[in-house]
Amino acid sequence: MTKKPAVVYSNVWEDPELNRVSLKVQPGQNVLSITSGGCNSLCLLLEDPAKLISIDLNPAQLSMLEFKRAAIMELDYDDFIESMGTPFLFKPGKPAEYRIELYNRIKKHMPAYAVQFWDENQNHIRDGIMMCGKVEKFFKIYRTLLGFLYSKEDLMSLFKAENLEKQREAYATFRKKRWNALHRLLLNRAVLSLVKGAHSFAQVDFEDFAGNLNVKRTRGMTRFFNPDNYFMCLLMLGAHYHEKGMAPYLLRENYPKLKANIGRLEIFMGTIGDVLKKDGPGSYDRFNLSNIFEWMTNEVFNGIIREVLELARPGSRMAWRYTFARPRELDAENLSHLVYEPELSEQLFNQDRAFIYESFHAYHLK
Ligand SMILES: C[S@@+](CC[C@H](N)C(=O)[O-])C[C@H]1O[C@@H](n2cnc3c(N)ncnc32)[C@H](O)[C@@H]1O
Repeated sequence: MTKKPAVVYSNVWEDPELNRVSLKVQPGQNVLSITSGGCNSLCLLLEDPAKLISIDLNPAQLSMLEFKRAAIMELDYDDFIESMGTPFLFKPGKPAEYRIELYNRIKKHMPAYAVQFWDENQNHIRDGIMMCGKVEKFFKIYRTLLGFLYSKEDLMSLFKAENLEKQREAYATFRKKRWNALHRLLLNRAVLSLVKGAHSFAQVDFEDFAGNLNVKRTRGMTRFFNPDNYFMCLLMLGAHYHEKGMAPYLLRENYPKLKANIGRLEIFMGTIGDVLKKDGPGSYDRFNLSNIFEWMTNEVFNGIIREVLELARPGSRMAWRYTFARPRELDAENLSHLVYEPELSEQLFNQDRAFIYESFHAYHLK
């Protein structure tokens, strides 16, 4: 029996601001973007490219983006937000049946494979597709366990500070022993491999995932004001704190542009090599490569970069990141075509609100 496709990420847990600033999409350019939950492809659509191809190998991830696209095509802003069950801490959503009604209105815009996926997974629509991925479900278990260890009041003290300075103080005095113990129990290679697959961690050199993530937690808690940081809010509270603290594609003020540009989005199942076969050399200007290189050997990585270089037009820009793994090394041939931008990469890494990453890499074509 073949395994049914499942959503791993219903959100992209990568800061879209890093893509926006590093890729510098110019109106009229063609963009290639890894799909995951579709969020960052939709955010790049706000930069007015002529065309954006969003690719993935997992049909469930593409179905997620198909749902979001269909909702953008058909619905007004409030229903768009409602259709995904976008969670807000202080505002309850409408009943599950309403989301099914919206789905029935938007499905005419989806291809057959996506309709089949959502027909078979209507429970996700009832619960809200925005938190239906395996990663999001894992975060829910994390929150439940955290809720056994701390009172709601204790946890909310990290979100209720009136400014970042006060939040830092609240975090500094927060009793972290139990939190750290939970991390040791939950955030290790064995458990994380169950969520994301063991291959994801094949290139990680260290074993102390909990220690690594404790440092990153401190970074997140001390650099960014939590109510505005939707990554921290979705992870720790399971909801947005307020309507302004969301990914750009979800913001009310960006909706007219998103609707206007949605026809420029192509959703494609396949690899970068498949795009090269379909569209031919020299057909893209910007590349959001997410952290697809996380698990790859140097050889596979360099092979994909060669395909990117073939697809790239003069002046192309590209960016990628790693969550835990050490960066792969470009071979001499690839290096001769690419220029690394260390200052920009470092600056953007330091402002990464998604805070769980190990490194960020921005390049342009020589
Ligand atoms: C690399 S994962 C990372 C997810 C991300 N860090 C996030 O927070 O959403 C993103 C997506 O890339 C897809 N993917 C991985 N390797 C790929 C490849 N070579 N070509 C196209 N998609 C790929 C996966 O199916 C997954 O949906």
